[in-house]
Amino acid sequence: MTESIIGHRTTRIDGELKLTGKADYAADHNLPGQVYGYPVPSTIARGRLVGLDLDAARQAPGVIEIVHRGNFPALQHSDNNPACGSEGRLFHSPNTMAEQNKVGEARLPFEDDGIHYEGQYIAMVIADTFEHARAAARLVTARYEEETAVPGLFQTDDEGEEAGDESVSRGDPEGAFESAPVKFDHTYTIAMETHVAMELHASNATWDGDRLTIYESTQGVVFQRNAMAQIFGIPPEKVTVIAHYIGSGFGSKLFMWPHAVITAVAAKMVGRPVKTVLSRQQNFCSAGNRPASRQRIRMAADRDGKLLSIRHDSQNETSFVDAYTESVGSGTPRVYACDNVSVSQRRVQVNHGTPTSMRAPGEVSGSVALEIAMDEMAIELGMDPLELRRRNFAERDPSADLPWSGNHLRECWDDASKRFGWEKRNPQIGSMRDGHEIIGWGMADATWEAMRSHCKARVELRADGKVQVACGTQDIGTGTYTIVAQTASELTGVPLERIEVKLGDSTLPAGPLSGGSMATATTLPAVAGATRDAIEQLKQLAIADGAPFEGKEADALTFENGTLNDGSQTLSFAELLDKLQRGMAEGEASAAPGEEQDKFSFRSFGAHFVEVRWDPGISRLRVSRVVSTIDVGRAINPLTARNQVEGAIVMGMGMGMFEETEYDSAGNIYNNNYADYIVPVHADIPDIEVELLDNPDYNFNEFGARGIGEIGITGMAAAISNAVYHATGKRIRDMPIKIADLIASR
Ligand code: MOS
Repeated sequence: MTESIIGHRTTRIDGELKLTGKADYAADHNLPGQVYGYPVPSTIARGRLVGLDLDAARQAPGVIEIVHRGNFPALQHSDNNPACGSEGRLFHSPNTMAEQNKVGEARLPFEDDGIHYEGQYIAMVIADTFEHARAAARLVTARYEEETAVPGLFQTDDEGEEAGDESVSRGDPEGAFESAPVKFDHTYTIAMETHVAMELHASNATWDGDRLTIYESTQGVVFQRNAMAQIFGIPPEKVTVIAHYIGSGFGSKLFMWPHAVITAVAAKMVGRPVKTVLSRQQNFCSAGNRPASRQRIRMAADRDGKLLSIRHDSQNETSFVDAYTESVGSGTPRVYACDNVSVSQRRVQVNHGTPTSMRAPGEVSGSVALEIAMDEMAIELGMDPLELRRRNFAERDPSADLPWSGNHLRECWDDASKRFGWEKRNPQIGSMRDGHEIIGWGMADATWEAMRSHCKARVELRADGKVQVACGTQDIGTGTYTIVAQTASELTGVPLERIEVKLGDSTLPAGPLSGGSMATATTLPAVAGATRDAIEQLKQLAIADGAPFEGKEADALTFENGTLNDGSQTLSFAELLDKLQRGMAEGEASAAPGEEQDKFSFRSFGAHFVEVRWDPGISRLRVSRVVSTIDVGRAINPLTARNQVEGAIVMGMGMGMFEETEYDSAGNIYNNNYADYIVPVHADIPDIEVELLDNPDYNFNEFGARGIGEIGITGMAAAISNAVYHATGKRIRDMPIKIADLIASR
């Protein structure tokens, strides 16, 4: 191949399968003898389950079994309970969540008679059809001793429990604040959000003796396998988790939720495969959420805009059945140069389902407060907000005393501001108008840590002329299949059409979670290593006694465009294997982050510039333009990479303007559906112009790729809020921004 396919805009190799309905998502699997599970949710948010009346449900058509506390077996806890805790940093340091065999909620199903949140499962009906199971589930009645729920972070005085390992302190933030000439103390809030991935959570479990196979919509087949093995007390080799295709997850499918455990138990109880597909309503209750958060920022600067002090103290909701910490302040000590910084985090228990990671967990919430605060500081100083950021550029990682592997934030600022036309901005509030509309321009920075984990892969060069790559990671829709194929194509010279990629099966060599934006940087080095190993194995076969290149040195053979060549003879690997009567040459490799981790700080940066239009006559707020420039090192596939940033920007609009999981005073979610939980739709989405810089980060891996799934959402809601301030003079510190906030006089 003359031109590298790495960095080439490549359409998804699984696109046709998806468009034609041939891609097998978890719920698409139907197994012989399969029956259906339908969970019965608690209708109260807090109290005790005193009794279940199952008689009517038992007599309903098609009902086979009802699983509940009374007949549920004793199970084991997996990694995250209690020793590891789900407490602590999510992805950021070694041996944290990314490598845990964690479950989404530490409490096992039916483990106690307590009701800890609305929608907690109190039973699961198993019936011959989905409709029968659902109908019977509605006949189950429960008696509760109801208690007053803690309805949410913003309705309780509980200060919560400190998450100690989130604490950061450097310099003298308090002293620097006290003596600073320009300072403020503001509080920011973000409503709870729910991941509303298109594909509903689904489990399809079947036992063959003591072997469990489960089709699950999961972002981590290997980790769910390990967790299942721990829960059932069986060796991991006896559990297989399959997720060939996933309709996204945004973090809600990183770790399995109670429905998966109940489904596996039910399959054992009835001796048949059981398929459970959660309803959209159930997806809101017991499958994770981005917790509501409250953040206090005390920020101080000198009159030239040099940041003197940042104190960032946050609280996040957790449930009563797990201790989830949202690392809200994790970006704060790192993004800007400031000598005096402190961060703290507290968890407040409320009667909501257990939170989990949601796209850019922690940092995106933190970026709302930090990036609005930067705008507020610019206003205080009478300075352009971009100029304020320029004056606080961090030449090194200020939290680690390490050089950046590559911080191209300045280029992002230059590129995006130029394309946006930022220099034409009139800083006067409400000064830019177009007919009825007031135009607001705002900006914010984006950032996300670059992470890498462990990975194994296997590559087969086959006699049929195909190359097969196998890795136990999965593609949640981001394009992992395609970049794995690109990598194998790059190293073998075999075109994509002849490369098969197998992912999403825990029996494959262990691969990473599709999370933390780390799958690319983690997986590709292993794929590359396995490809090289397969080529080496091929050469060894080629020079063996009686083989076509007998007597040559392996090093004297070149492998190009799928053919071996010694200068006089050329054979494709298929021809060679055919002559040798061999099915394949097989290579394996594992890859892990190495000593580079101690030499550099790996983080990506970007900048969003946003235009909003506020029409005061009809109280309409729109985002009308977004221009973003992001640096993630080398984009392996600029087509799918840009999609990721565009999608994240849309999701950031959701955070800034629409998304809020709403509870009534009794602790029941009342917008638990796509009609009432508002996400941006096409009519809301403006022109989004994303540019990816191309600065390969070879310190991080041989392909120069950091991750791209999450960074695009960071800073977006803040950029919108900053633009709204520019248009209206209303400083909105509570997400999502509501029209009521804009029409209220203040
Ligand atoms: Mo992402 S929140 O790591 O799926």
